[in-house]
Amino acid sequence: MSADRVEVWWLDVDGVGADQWAELTAVLDASEQARAARFHFDRDRQTYIAAHALGRRLLSAWAGGDPASWRFTIGDHGKPEVISPANGPCLRLNLSHTRGLAAAVLTEECDVGVDVEWLGRDPDCLGLGRRFFAAAECAVLEAAPPQRLAHTFLSFWTLKEAYIKAIGKGLAQPLDSFAFTLEPLSIAFTDTLADDPAHWRFHQAQPNDQHLLALALRHPHPDRVQVELRAMDF
Ligand SMILES: CC(C)(COP(=O)(O)OP(=O)(O)OC[C@H]1O[C@@H](n2cnc3c(N)ncnc32)[C@H](O)[C@@H]1OP(=O)(O)O)[C@@H](O)C(=O)NCCC(=O)NCCS
Repeated sequence: MSADRVEVWWLDVDGVGADQWAELTAVLDASEQARAARFHFDRDRQTYIAAHALGRRLLSAWAGGDPASWRFTIGDHGKPEVISPANGPCLRLNLSHTRGLAAAVLTEECDVGVDVEWLGRDPDCLGLGRRFFAAAECAVLEAAPPQRLAHTFLSFWTLKEAYIKAIGKGLAQPLDSFAFTLEPLSIAFTDTLADDPAHWRFHQAQPNDQHLLALALRHPHPDRVQVELRAMDF
């Protein structure tokens, strides 16, 4: 295991049996369990529990130990960071959850972010793109055939969210300060964002016909990185 490896796990939340939720909830800590209890809809509670249990199991599969024993701190913009074992590598975990899918990504040392989105949603693609995206991304959306528009929008969206989650800033980072191309997959930064495309690796996946996933990793040698993707089944 090393910083040259990234592991991505996802879980089909609808495939979790009714009798498994208590076991998954039991690995969460008290604050996670309290937050889970506050969700109004079972659907949202279950994706939250699934993502946090998945992240904890991924940490234990990578580094050993009991999934329930992991503790986290929260960064300036709300990014949770796992507290790594003393004298061990710095573990870097990120979670994402959307309707029907939970995902967790883990590496060592490097900034990493993941985003998953449900393709069944019907966003105002052109309106949101014009409001938030970079001009070059908007031009791609405006040229997209109607039947590809939502997929193209959510491809950009997942990549942009994965990037802002990797750098930890969340939506404090203006979404038009960087622009993706989809084919080939690349990023460019405006002058306001002092970042270097050569230090980034991005990866897209479609876990099933209902969901899109994007991964962003900052790494000194992105070409060396091995990305492993696994569909998990609890
Ligand atoms: C972090 C953020 C960018 C991601 O939110 P999101 O895409 O809604 O949610 P995701 O499920 O992908 O990620 C949430 C997880 O990211 C992690 N997270 C929270 N803040 C984070 C940050 N600043 N950086 C990285 N990760 C963060 C947490 O683990 C969180 O899970 P939890 O709430 O269960 O603890 C958030 O700032 C946000 O508010 N997003 C709004 C998204 C939005 O408006 N979408 C509209 C699409 S048209």
